[in-house]
Amino acid sequence: MKVKVLVFDAYGTLFNVNSLDQLLEEYYGDQATQLSALWRAKQLQYTWLRTLMERYKPFSEITMDTLEFACTQLKLPLNKKIKAHLAQEYDQLAAFAEVKSVLTELQSKYQLAILSNADPQMLNNAVDHNQLTSYFSWILSAHSISKFKPRCEVYQLAVDATNRKAKNILFASSNTWDVAGAKSFGLQVAWLKRSTIGLDNLGFEPDYIIENLSELLDL
Ligand code: LAC
Repeated sequence: MKVKVLVFDAYGTLFNVNSLDQLLEEYYGDQATQLSALWRAKQLQYTWLRTLMERYKPFSEITMDTLEFACTQLKLPLNKKIKAHLAQEYDQLAAFAEVKSVLTELQSKYQLAILSNADPQMLNNAVDHNQLTSYFSWILSAHSISKFKPRCEVYQLAVDATNRKAKNILFASSNTWDVAGAKSFGLQVAWLKRSTIGLDNLGFEPDYIIENLSELLDL
């Protein structure tokens, strides 16, 4: 099907959350890996739980709530200074190495968008920090409908904003649950396999599996 628009997930896809791990190492040494994994798992769980409970809270607040949970769970010290430093780091996550050059190529052929659970301020900070603002025709946030991915209404934001049919939109994400959600909704989907984690057994497979965003240029 003719693709007219490319839509990108943000964290883990365009922006590398691993730079948080380096900061966590500084604060928590060899406990950092366990903290990072528990924090990210809980952050995602809370977005799903709050959506199911219809108790929305911005992704930025959930990110801090789950950091507190993880530190309490692992009996690690957390003070205002560390929280502020980690929140600031989240706003300055580096884009993956290939992002700018790939978007430059793609921009000449497609309209580009971001579709993320993060609140608009968080997204704008990350996009501005990496000087990527000029690449995107739309920066879409789940915040506008107070529901998180993989709710179908969130993917519908991409259809409504771009005025394209779902089958003419290619969505790229590194998050397997996001891949299943986007495919279930009806978008064309590229799974950006940035880790060893396998696809979920949910019956919604991506149309493409890539290991680097530059492979989109060949599709
Ligand atoms: C995003 C995170 C959850 O939606 O990947 O950007």
